[in-house]
Amino acid sequence: MATTNGAVENGQPDRKPPALPRPIRNLEVKFTKIFINNEWHESKSGKKFATYNPSTLEKICEVEEGDKPDVDKAVEAAQAAFQRGSPWRQLDALSRGRLLHQLADLLERDRAVLATLETMDSGKPFLHAFFIDLEGCIKTLRYFAGWADKIQGRTIPTDDNVVCFTRHEPIGVCGAITPWNFPLLMLVWKLAPALCCGNTVVVKPAEQTPLTALYLGSLIKEVGFPPGVVNIVPGFGPTVGAAISSHPQISKIAFTGSTEVGKLVKEAASRSNLKRVTLELGGKNPCIVCADADLDLAVECAHQGVFFNQGQCCTAASRVFVEEPVYTEFVRRSVEYAKKRPVGDPFDVRTEQGPQIDQKQLNKILDLIESGKKEGAKLECGGSAIEDRGLFIKPTVFSEVTDTMRIAREEIFGPVQPILKFKSIEEVIKRANSLEYGLTAAVFTKNLDKALKLASALESGTVWINCYNAIYAQAPFGGFKMSGNGRELGEYALAEYTEVKTVTIKLDDKNP
Ligand code: NAI
Ligand code: MG
Repeated sequence: MATTNGAVENGQPDRKPPALPRPIRNLEVKFTKIFINNEWHESKSGKKFATYNPSTLEKICEVEEGDKPDVDKAVEAAQAAFQRGSPWRQLDALSRGRLLHQLADLLERDRAVLATLETMDSGKPFLHAFFIDLEGCIKTLRYFAGWADKIQGRTIPTDDNVVCFTRHEPIGVCGAITPWNFPLLMLVWKLAPALCCGNTVVVKPAEQTPLTALYLGSLIKEVGFPPGVVNIVPGFGPTVGAAISSHPQISKIAFTGSTEVGKLVKEAASRSNLKRVTLELGGKNPCIVCADADLDLAVECAHQGVFFNQGQCCTAASRVFVEEPVYTEFVRRSVEYAKKRPVGDPFDVRTEQGPQIDQKQLNKILDLIESGKKEGAKLECGGSAIEDRGLFIKPTVFSEVTDTMRIAREEIFGPVQPILKFKSIEEVIKRANSLEYGLTAAVFTKNLDKALKLASALESGTVWINCYNAIYAQAPFGGFKMSGNGRELGEYALAEYTEVKTVTIKLDDKNP
């Protein structure tokens, strides 16, 4: 999601921009089984489930359907790989980092394959998968590769004659449960810090989008991670997901998904063994446009902020607060943008918006659109599915939205932009902070004092000023309030994947 800042060297001749990457035609799906101990297994139950292409509604393939016994086997492998003296535990930290770099190299090599798989399975535009998801994966792996040999404790002065120091040790077997909106990226956000710190991992990808995670399994093996370090069990939430979150031998779990399931995961984690938990959950993120903002920038960022990834982002700018003097103009320009948004085949390079992930999500979005109409918001454009086109929804803009409407309170997770009006900064701070969510917020203003005041007053894990979705591997990401617990990315993520051990050595006062 980060934009690259391409430096231009003096004296270099002008070069043509590189050709756009191409999807792989007729890509054969090779990896559909459960990945344990660097080997591919059938499910113990013999069951399989289908994964679909949301853009054509065609079945792509069947995947082995894991359940509790498969999770048990995966945890056993991950535990064995974490044993003292195992090849993984004996590997020096620099080599651990090198493995992560080599994994990033293979993602670069197979970037078009992975982006093609992601587009087939999730419906996101191929160029987004290639330039945003895969870019994020590669950078995250490289960032944490660099940390592997820099995880250091401290020496602590105490009030006795002792040497006291801390060691930051891996926690053990970590579970990762991931969603379908950024299938590979959300997995790498968990895998990279977990491995960098020396843990082993059991992964459950979302049932809608298991294919890139399984392909990654093949790369983990190719790179030479010891068997059992990474294990991947595709399947459903109430079976595989629940088995992971309640497993007594899993010591930490990282989850991205709905707030509702986040609560279940934390409950199961507490009941089983108090495993450490990080949660990335929903958002209903305020995007505040002040009258003194650069309006072109604000309109474009708010548009991308809510429509990007078919609106299926926890960071979606789904409550746009616009100051009264620029409200009408902001709405007019936003509608223009929405009407021009190219919706269609995600493999077409012109497409900005593909299909929603599945029928359940489509129905949820359409229901919320209907509630907006009924509750008195003004439908400016869109407002329905695209006839006869499966899971596609017209980019939708509502103006005259008020705080009590469902579209201003509930996570829509679809291409719907609710625009609200505000009159003063104090008022907008209160309204922005009035929900239980607190993931991200954005502010558009040219006034530095106002920007900093809002940055400090907004109750959210991230505040973007004059930008949107500026997410970097180096900077922490996570939620206040019910948007989550803990942080992913950045140095902060290391604390989520390590235990601190205090070692205290009594010195002999008489010696020498
Ligand atoms: P979900 O929370 O059910 O799915 C996320 C992951 O949790 C999937 O891998 C799923 O299999 C797993 N899961 C489901 N039930 C589980 C259980 N009992 N124990 C352990 N794991 C379980 O989300 P869903 O139903 O796909 O989408 C519902 C809504 O959640 C969306 O409309 C959206 O509002 C929100 N959502 C938020 C995401 C985010 O990025 N924060 C991502 C996906 C959904
Ligand atoms: Mg699919």
